[in-house]
Amino acid sequence: MNRLHAVLAALREGPGYVSGAAIAARLEISRTAVWKYVKQLEGLGYRLEKVKGKGYQLTETPDRLYPWEIDRRLTTRYMGRNVIYRDRADSTNGIAFKLALDGAPEGTCVVAETQSAGKGRLQRPWVSPYAANLYLSVVLRPKIHPSQVYPVTFLSSLAVYDTVRAYEIDPKLKWPNDVLVGGRKICGTLLELSTEADAVRFVIVGIGLNVNMRQNEMTEEIRTKATSLALEAKKVFERAQVCGILLANLERYYDLAKKDGLKAICGLWEEKARIKGTYLEVVQPERVFRGVAEGIDTEGALLLNQEGTITRIIAGDVTF
Ligand code: BTN
Repeated sequence: MNRLHAVLAALREGPGYVSGAAIAARLEISRTAVWKYVKQLEGLGYRLEKVKGKGYQLTETPDRLYPWEIDRRLTTRYMGRNVIYRDRADSTNGIAFKLALDGAPEGTCVVAETQSAGKGRLQRPWVSPYAANLYLSVVLRPKIHPSQVYPVTFLSSLAVYDTVRAYEIDPKLKWPNDVLVGGRKICGTLLELSTEADAVRFVIVGIGLNVNMRQNEMTEEIRTKATSLALEAKKVFERAQVCGILLANLERYYDLAKKDGLKAICGLWEEKARIKGTYLEVVQPERVFRGVAEGIDTEGALLLNQEGTITRIIAGDVTF
């Protein structure tokens, strides 16, 4: 913990006012240094009340994804224990990719308050308004063949599914990588990978979870198709807390995949998505498939029964 975080922790210990002298004595720094850290905290958006003779009282914590704010909410062993924070990024996936190339350890995660070039699936942009949602990219280094990587996306969707449920909102999983609420998209995952010979070097799991986004922050394009936790629950969420819960769920599913294999993750996804026996339409740029879902295979492909013939589909947009 650096000094700034130590001052913040001391202020949080409260309750009520904490004297500058007490903080200074505890951290073995001068009262002027305490005052400088207090100014720095104010610059970061924290609000403090200062009363002569009493000291400081923390009255407001900004809703920012500062690494120390996420850390307070973490219960994980390695997932999110190394957080890289950006106020503004082009794409958190791009930053995580570069860090992974430089050897960033498994569980490293990149968060940003906004993205100027957020990437969605199929070359679509990902709408990323400032300080509204979670834009998160996690480095994983699974010991698998590149052909087995796809189910990692299910692992991410399952973690998001459980996170949304933790707030008593009822989500639905949509193949291949979406989480919906009330028929509207609340989250998507974009995997990017680096491979060598017959092995995966690393996977970047890019998660965009709409947390506090309001209708007026959405583009025309997504306004009728997207939702957020706040729109569903009609209240504002603390994003660092949502992030902590999500990372804990991600670690749990990833540990399970390491123990029982990604096949087990496919099974869980299939079960929670309740996909078997549902009538689906899958749209690809050149064609449309219609049929009854038989489930997914161990490589994550959708198996569609079209009047007795099973078609294996590896990409596309599903409508129910
Ligand atoms: C989709 O189209 O459903 C996938 C969306 C993935 C968006 C996230 S936001 C964090 C990470 N950084 C990116 O540029 N994209 C992913």
